[in-house]
Amino acid sequence: MVEPSLPSFEECSNEKAVYPGSFDPLTYGHLDIIKRSLHYFQNLVVLIAENRKKTPFLSIEERVGLLQKYFHNDSRIHVEVWKGLLVDYMKQKDIPVCIRGLRVLSDFENEFQMAITNKQIYPDFEVLFFMSNMQHANLSSSMVKEMIHFQGNIRLFVPDIVAEHLEKRR
Ligand code: PNS
Repeated sequence: MVEPSLPSFEECSNEKAVYPGSFDPLTYGHLDIIKRSLHYFQNLVVLIAENRKKTPFLSIEERVGLLQKYFHNDSRIHVEVWKGLLVDYMKQKDIPVCIRGLRVLSDFENEFQMAITNKQIYPDFEVLFFMSNMQHANLSSSMVKEMIHFQGNIRLFVPDIVAEHLEKRR
């Protein structure tokens, strides 16, 4: 494997990172990771990407709409959609750093596999993991979708604009 030359600290731009995910839907867990990432990066691309292991509940347009509505006052957040490989987006935009959240041990295997694969095809690729806040360690978009399906209260897990939208979609 080709070893990339590591950038110096000064070169290591903290200008922008990418936070990719399905965001189906956006949860307080995602918001916690976004808030914490913004301590280290001036700008963050929240990238709605395709996870072929999951069947989407919300359309891409609904997800973009909700994210844009939620972040409309924050010029540091750029909501984008990408239909291809994550690393192709990152190469094209010259953003080598990607953010992911880690909750429970079961996340690790998949994250590890993705991180190694992404680095093999884009040697400059780096992923920074934020440990989920204990308050959100149980929280997942899949769990929110389960709650919606069975008429559960989702207000603890997603912001109001997302809850209002999901409640209409029940
Ligand atoms: O929120 P998720 O579903 O855990 O996010 C997973 C996501 C969308 C980041 C991942 O599936 C992804 O990177 N998809 C883009 C396509 C891709 O690059 N796949 C190869 C991963 S090694």
